[in-house]
Amino acid sequence: MSSEGIELRGVVKSFGEESVLRGVNLSVRKGETLAVLGVSGAGKTTLLRIIAGLDVPEEGEVFVGGRVVTRGPDLLVPPRERQVGFIFQNLGLWQHMSVEEHLRFVFNLRRIKDPEDKIREILEFFGLWKHRKKRPHQLSGGEKQRLAFARAMAQQVKFLLLDEPLSNLDLPRKKQLREELLRIKARRDVTLLYVTHDPLDVRIISHRVAVLHQGRIIQEGTWEELLRSPVHPIVEELLNP
Ligand SMILES: Nc1ncnc2c1ncn2[C@@H]1O[C@H](COP(=O)(O)OP(=O)(O)OP(=O)(O)O)[C@@H](O)[C@H]1O
Ligand SMILES: [Mg+2]
Repeated sequence: MSSEGIELRGVVKSFGEESVLRGVNLSVRKGETLAVLGVSGAGKTTLLRIIAGLDVPEEGEVFVGGRVVTRGPDLLVPPRERQVGFIFQNLGLWQHMSVEEHLRFVFNLRRIKDPEDKIREILEFFGLWKHRKKRPHQLSGGEKQRLAFARAMAQQVKFLLLDEPLSNLDLPRKKQLREELLRIKARRDVTLLYVTHDPLDVRIISHRVAVLHQGRIIQEGTWEELLRSPVHPIVEELLNP
């Protein structure tokens, strides 16, 4: 049986000759916030893209909320039908829509009547109100990231994938969005998979940590467990850079 969270079984992915994921097994429990750590190029973004349905593995299965969404190259539920929100830098924004249209679109999908007050509230929170008429290509890197964040909040999805969501932000914004993440963490109906290079974020924001190294998850556990008994020197290095 698969869990109600996010589960990967034997996921294998290569790009040409380069084998990136060599049989990844990972369970994110329902309501859990799990951080994935790994050196640059370890395959963290690839892992998230496979869960989101943006990349296809050669082998292995992905379950979201107990439902199989990817099975090798044969079965692929389209990204929009996965009920998975993602925050990837530059990725997944709708190039033809303005900032406010991104949110209006999401609220329409959710059949929320008169969303204008809610749209304003969210855009003000993320400091995007004055940019509401702009399209993604007219936004700075940090603004794009905040728009992806704002949209994910408006979607109220139960599964969220975050690829270094706090990088590229100034310190006050970082603090604000970190607090937002802590609020999400406290909600036990949202399952969150979080990729970062920042050990401080890992310790504060996640319930558990998984380390991706040489194509596999080599260790999983709480921050304290990994620190106490790392199975590989890389684990220590990633926790104490
Ligand atoms: N579309 C692609 N075509 C060819 N190679 C790719 C492609 N996407 C990723 N790769 C390669 O796969 C490996 C893993 O990339 P990935 O982006 O998943 O790493 P990452 O762990 O997210 O790294 P970082 O911490 O730097 O973001 C890298 O060596 C990268 O060059
Ligand atoms: Mg990456």
